Amino acid sequence: MDTSSPRKLLSALRRALRNRFYLCYGMRGTAPINPAFGSAEGTPVDRYYIERFLERERGLIAGAVLEIGDRGYTGRFGAGVTLSDVLSAAADEGVTYVGDLASCPEIPSDSYDCVVLTQTLHYLRDMGSGVAELTRILKPGGSVLCTVPGISQISRFDMDRWGDRWRLTSLSANELFSERFGPEGVRVSTYGNALAAVCFLQGVPAERISSRKLDRCEPDYQLIVAIVATKASDA
Ligand SMILES: C[S@@+](CC[C@H](N)C(=O)[O-])C[C@H]1O[C@@H](n2cnc3c(N)ncnc32)[C@H](O)[C@@H]1O
Repeated sequence: MDTSSPRKLLSALRRALRNRFYLCYGMRGTAPINPAFGSAEGTPVDRYYIERFLERERGLIAGAVLEIGDRGYTGRFGAGVTLSDVLSAAADEGVTYVGDLASCPEIPSDSYDCVVLTQTLHYLRDMGSGVAELTRILKPGGSVLCTVPGISQISRFDMDRWGDRWRLTSLSANELFSERFGPEGVRVSTYGNALAAVCFLQGVPAERISSRKLDRCEPDYQLIVAIVATKASDA
């Protein structure tokens, strides 16, 4: 809570009060209770699910790992990581490759045991080309851990830079990855329910909702679609 001035303190208190009664307040106005996924107030609900997914699959984050954007999740969930590379659309400290996942010939084929691809595939103009590049740069037997939004507001930061283009469902994600990895190489799971979706759109952070409620999965309210796709060992 920012208490550096009386005005900021007042607006922080007002926000806290509104969060407490988020359903009543949320239904009244057209603007969300907190902007930008509620990231200034705590953990956005989509991040809660992404972390649940990576926790579940953390055994795959080992050996040579490529992460898109930054190496935050590799550091947090990986173990036995021997190489930690980063691909990003923007040059930044620690970035190994600056480029487009849809066409990244600078990355050698058969390079990685794991690619951590959270919340980025939907920015690509052509997601199919991105998935084709993933099959090329993974080692045989290597896996990509991917998350994409289902129900979500636009990410304004990303929209203004590289474009926020697509939303997927479990069906379209399965079809997209199965085309390149084969259906037997793809596992898709979904996270979310109606309450979680409302809170996420209203910017109510995960800390204000019980994990018992967040963890209830309703397949018709897919907030996060998570994919594990594994390249065939004999590819
Ligand atoms: C919202 S972050 C997602 C990755 C981050 N690890 C995360 O989980 O939040 C957006 C990142 O996607 C990257 N990005 C956007 N379009 C891309 C593209 N076509 N190819 C590779 N990276 C891209 C940007 O450089 C940025 O670092």
